[in-house]
Parts: sequence; C-alpha cells; structure tokens
Amino acid sequence: MERDTTLNNIVHQVPSPCYLVDTALLRRNLEMLQQVKRRSDCKILLALKAFSMWGVFDLIKPYLDGTCASSINEARLGAQEIGGEVHVFCPAWQDREIEPLGQLADHVIFNSLAQFERFGKTLLVINRGIQLGLRINPAHSEAPAALYDPCAPGSHLGILAQDMPRKLPGEITGLHFHTLCEQNSDALERTLAAVEKNFGPYLEQVQWFNFGGGHHITRDDYNIDLLCQLVSGFKDRYGVEIYLEPGEAVALNTGYLIATVLDIVHNQIDIAILDTSATAHMPDVLEMPYRPNIEGAGKPGERPYTFRLAGRTCLAGDVIGDYSFDHPLKPGERLIFHDMAHYTMVKNTTFNGIPLPDIVICDSTGNTFHIQRKFNYDDFKMRLS
Ligand SMILES: Cc1ncc(COP(=O)(O)O)c(C=O)c1O
Repeated sequence: MERDTTLNNIVHQVPSPCYLVDTALLRRNLEMLQQVKRRSDCKILLALKAFSMWGVFDLIKPYLDGTCASSINEARLGAQEIGGEVHVFCPAWQDREIEPLGQLADHVIFNSLAQFERFGKTLLVINRGIQLGLRINPAHSEAPAALYDPCAPGSHLGILAQDMPRKLPGEITGLHFHTLCEQNSDALERTLAAVEKNFGPYLEQVQWFNFGGGHHITRDDYNIDLLCQLVSGFKDRYGVEIYLEPGEAVALNTGYLIATVLDIVHNQIDIAILDTSATAHMPDVLEMPYRPNIEGAGKPGERPYTFRLAGRTCLAGDVIGDYSFDHPLKPGERLIFHDMAHYTMVKNTTFNGIPLPDIVICDSTGNTFHIQRKFNYDDFKMRLS
C-alpha cells in the first residue's frame, strides 16, 4: 500500500519522533459512531483512558455525548474539554476524592456494594442529580488475553450475579459491564445473552445500561448492523437508555508514530536503533503484546532486507520487532508506524530520560499540519521530585 502524496509530504516535514494524528481520519471514525447513535438511539462516550489528546476534542465534541473517565483527573479533563455527560468508573475510591467526584461526574459506577454503601449517599448530597450505578461481572469471557479479561477467574472487576442483592438499592439507577477488547458485535451478542441469563431480575429495575468499551466499531469488518440490532433490542426489551464507551474505536487508525533510524548495528541480524522506544513510546507493543504495521515494510524475509527495530532505552527487550524492507535501512531514514493514536500518548513514559515524542495534528485532506505540543526537560524533571 502506498501512502498518498499529501500525507507523505507531511510525514517528512514533522519533527521526529512525533505522534501524528490526522483529523480527516478521526472525522471518518466519528461519522461512523454518529451513524450508530442515530440508528440505535444509544449514547456514545469517549473512553479517555484510550485517547486523551484534548487538542482534537473540539472536533470530537459535536459527535459524542461526553466522556467516560477512570479517575478524577480524567473526569476533570472530560468536563473541561468535551463537556456533555461525564461517567466515572474506578475499582475503588479514596475518601478525599469523593467531593471532586461529586462535582465533576454525572454518573458514578461502583465496583462493589461496599463502595456504594460507603460513598453513595455522600455523592447524592454533593450532587443531587448524580446517577449511581454498579459494575456487574457477567462471568462470560470474550477477551483474547487474560490481561484484558475482566471476567477471568479471580478478577477484581465487577460484581458477580451471586453477590448481587435480591433487589437493587433505590439509589442505584443503572448497571455497567466492560468485558470486550477489540471485538466484533458477535462477542457483544454472546455477552448480552450471559447478562440477560445471569442478571435478568435487575434489568427492569434500572433506567440506564452501559455496555462498556472494546467494541471495534470503526474497523472495516465490524458488523454495525448487528450492533444496532442488539442495542435497539435491549433498549426495547427493558426500556433503558444504552451507553457505549469505546476508546479505541474513536481513534482507531487515525494516527502514526513517526520515527527516525539513528544507527545500524549487527549482532546475528541487522539492527536499526531508532529515536523512539517500544517501552517508552508504544508500551502496548510489549504489554499487549502486538506488532505494529510499518509503512512499506513486511514480515521478516518477505522483502529483501530484514532488520530488527530497537528502541533507544537500556532495556534489552526494547525491541519493536523484526521487519523487512525493499532497501537497506540507513541512519536518517524515517519510519511510519501505523495506528499509534490510542493507548500511546496516555501510557507513554520518559524512562531513561528519553524525551516524549512531540504531538502533531494534521489534516491530510488539506495538506496542513501544526505542532500541538513539544516536550522539554521540565516535563521530564517535574514528575520526579
Ligand atoms: C470500563 C472501561 N470502559 C471503556 C474502556 C475502553 O475500551 P476500548 O478502548 O477497548 O474501547 C475500557 C478499557 O479498558 C474500560 O476498562
């Protein structure tokens, strides 16, 4: 696949390393999400844990209903920069967080009945209109890896059916589950069947139901018809408002990490050392793990020149992977890592003092870009003492 010349021009003018987010691609995703909202009459929130690049939130704002946050910091960011509804879930709250939580959130979802009993009434005093909910654990695993499976045995996330009270407390107006990870709507269909089987008596006691994130709605092969059917069906059966809170689907395939080869070394294989890092700048490559696509590169041996791509930290495992190219890599050459908008900026670190990549926003339809943020020594130092 050859990149269109407009983006090619931009890629060679931006600083390296940088995260480059294309608003034209983001708009495409948002339009797809808006279609889902229209067709199934649900509400969609941006999961800030995946994508918190608030420099593009003005673009996102008109398409979505608000944000879902995992902390006071994210709730504040959502309230300030997107507005609309702010839904917050965190596995456990500290006493000192309840006052700001009550002021920022419209919906608070508790992970246990004990947390609800401890903080629910105080939240209602702080904010009379706040909606309180419980996270349930449908005990039905769909996630591809244990790291991403909130229904795995021993999980600390969500209340199991056997631990639910016979009748929900009067202050609880909604339920929430999050069990999917990069999945299609068939996984949601099976999950909803488990929810209806295990939590049936509660579904008519609530006014809203949140199906969490992990819906890969903007992926090419995603079955949107089935999603809309499932949402509308559930809504009609129980008379509830439905929320989806995708993170990845909002920013999927909208951004790149632009990096440069700094040096070539050889130890059984040719190794290119880059001005970026797997562990510091794209930690999910190691954590998830996954292999990012690179423009113009293939699997090892597929093209004539195979290189191992290494990061510039001291971690021996700071390796992005082995890739093959049509020509030998040389210092100064730029590489374009695909799909680097979500779960990158929100998770990166300055490990080894490596500077964070700049953040650049472009519009590939208009051949324009601007540097949104550069990081300096203070950004590194101020987190450390
Ligand atoms: C409670 C909750 N909601 C939403 C999300 C967003 O998931 P995704 O980015 O896969 O759509 C997550 C991700 O971990 C989550 O834990």
